Amino acid sequence: MAVDVVAVCGSLRRGSYNRMLLGSAIERAPDGLHVEELPFRGWPVYDGDLEAEAYPEAVGRAKERLARADGLLLVTPEYNYGVPGPLKNAFDWLSRPPRETPLIGKPVGTIGASTGWGGTERAQLVWLYSFRFLHMPSFNRREVHVSMAAEAFDESGRLTNELFLKDLDAYLAQFRDWLEGLKRARR
Ligand SMILES: Cc1cc2nc3c(=O)[nH]c(=O)nc-3n(C[C@H](O)[C@H](O)[C@H](O)COP(=O)(O)O)c2cc1C
Repeated sequence: MAVDVVAVCGSLRRGSYNRMLLGSAIERAPDGLHVEELPFRGWPVYDGDLEAEAYPEAVGRAKERLARADGLLLVTPEYNYGVPGPLKNAFDWLSRPPRETPLIGKPVGTIGASTGWGGTERAQLVWLYSFRFLHMPSFNRREVHVSMAAEAFDESGRLTNELFLKDLDAYLAQFRDWLEGLKRARR
């Protein structure tokens, strides 16, 4: 019983370390775990009038895909010790309208890369507030904080730092096991 995870990478820039981290996660996903990116490029800034009058089709499609997934993985940069605006905006769209959001109760995990020492540790903690509001169980048994990211990847964008690779592999395997357990319990 493979578990299906959609992953949202919070950086839009070319050469993003978080995108590289997501690429490595997709490539290294162990048996029984399928990781697929859910893109959000081009989504407008959240606006209640837009929501009421012209709900973006791309958001609707993303919500359908997320509804079918067993879990969500946020690959999050850290901006000013907090969550990055573009990813929070995408998350906020996915949370609307409240009665129709696939985020409610969706199991979630976070990983991230930053050029500083913290490796997005603070941003990952800040995300917990939003998960709590939406009753999203969050995976906390392992953590991936890729710090000093400029030295952690090779020229082709693959994660090469041995310690972070170990963290990522352990995270993916245990995230899969955790999601499998939750999926079994729902049956
Ligand atoms: C607006 C802004 C705020 C930032 N704040 C932090 C921060 O609080 N902590 C940190 O470790 N890095 C911070 N950085 C540096 C990011 O870690 C770095 O830009 C990183 O490459 C962003 O992820 P990306 O490579 O996936 O785009 C900040 C960058 C930006 C653009």
